[in-house]
Amino acid sequence: MEQYVIKGGKPLVGEVEIGGAKNAALAILAASLMTEETVEIDNLPNVTDINALLEAIERIGGHIERTGAHSIKLNCAHIDSFNIDCECIRKIRASYYLLGALLGRFKKATVPLPGGCNIGNRPIDLHLKGFRSLGVNIDISHGMINADSTELIGSHIYLDNVSVGATINIMMAASMAKGNTVIENAAKEPHVVDTANFLNSMGADIKGAGTDVIRIKGVERLHKTDYSIIPDQIEAGTFMFAAAATKGDVTIKNVIPKHLESISAKLIEIGCEVSEFDDSVRVVAKNRLSHTHVKTLPYPGFPTDMQPQMVVTIGISEGTSIVTESIFENRFKYVDELTKMGANIKVEGNTAIIDGVSGYTGARVAAPDLRAGAALVIAGLAAEGITVVDDITYVERGYEEIENKLRNLGAMIEKVNSEKEIQKFRLRVS
Ligand code: UD1
Repeated sequence: MEQYVIKGGKPLVGEVEIGGAKNAALAILAASLMTEETVEIDNLPNVTDINALLEAIERIGGHIERTGAHSIKLNCAHIDSFNIDCECIRKIRASYYLLGALLGRFKKATVPLPGGCNIGNRPIDLHLKGFRSLGVNIDISHGMINADSTELIGSHIYLDNVSVGATINIMMAASMAKGNTVIENAAKEPHVVDTANFLNSMGADIKGAGTDVIRIKGVERLHKTDYSIIPDQIEAGTFMFAAAATKGDVTIKNVIPKHLESISAKLIEIGCEVSEFDDSVRVVAKNRLSHTHVKTLPYPGFPTDMQPQMVVTIGISEGTSIVTESIFENRFKYVDELTKMGANIKVEGNTAIIDGVSGYTGARVAAPDLRAGAALVIAGLAAEGITVVDDITYVERGYEEIENKLRNLGAMIEKVNSEKEIQKFRLRVS
């Protein structure tokens, strides 16, 4: 088991380059199997969730050629199975995208019920409601979702909840349905738009992605494309909060500042200077930051995937802050870990009441999920003394070489895999 070991207390200073959006890449890779022609994808993050999905696609007959550190060629002309049941796919939430993609092209699929981070009840009823509405028969047995139909027929679908996954999944299947589909109350996240742009570049006819009504005219076939994935809004936001929490000065490059507006607004509100450029943002924090109230909401609201990083930052800001988690009810599990570092946070249901303390102290903590793991790394960077973060496989699901990127900003952080190495780090930095 590997850990991050961090000696905190040093402001992060410098420039960091953001990779491609993991959540867009997961959908786009799945959508790639909807054509038998070769798809070239660039700006693909090299993280474990992506590699798990690539492995699953290879197992059903996809051919993948890595053409660079962040680019691949994918050919799915010879898909020979519609039943995906490997260990790799059980680990990731986005396995559900294979359902929409396979249904679109082959009208049938068998996929395990999704895994992923345990951040609360994560039903997929809306995905299934959408597929059923397109004429798909669905049966769940022995942990598998079995879906098939003779033909997908366009339909009018209203999503009761705003769901990123359901919006993208239905959009993929409907792209190759007969006739027109309308998705109402659709999610507007940047990765919904990116997936729609990708599908359109393959010949799909999708309009309205990025608004709450998406209109899709089904097409018979999709073709090859060459596509570059958008920058990762959440990776960028994580570095923005890391800069704020350590009182640093960091320029975050290769971003779309518009996607970061809700994050920038909160950072400005608590006292940071945020400057926006064409494809970068600079975050400077000089003085002690102050409190705020935040409620997580679907895009363009404040993202639930940034909630733990935000809490860690306001946990050492002046005054009392209130954070309401409205998307996933179980997303405050890291608070117990943060308490070990001196935080003063009380969780009541989906609300955290945060009394800012003057600073954190290093401790041994464990990442309970991907984003909370990154938040604990930020806490370690801001803390006095040494922090060890266990269970970093969660963090590696969504952050590529986070320790190297942080080291380039002056952080004292290492990835280690034994108590002996932790000890060596302690000796070296003391
Ligand atoms: C995606 C992201 C995840 C992010 C989340 C919210 C991926 C791979 N993951 O997850 O990082 O935290 O969006 O921005 O892109 N819901 C239902 N029924 C459904 C589907 C969802 O009730 O069928 C509910 C969920 O319980 C949750 C809300 O809708 O309360 C939003 O979930 P959703 O947007 O679907 O999240 P994911 O797509 O799983």
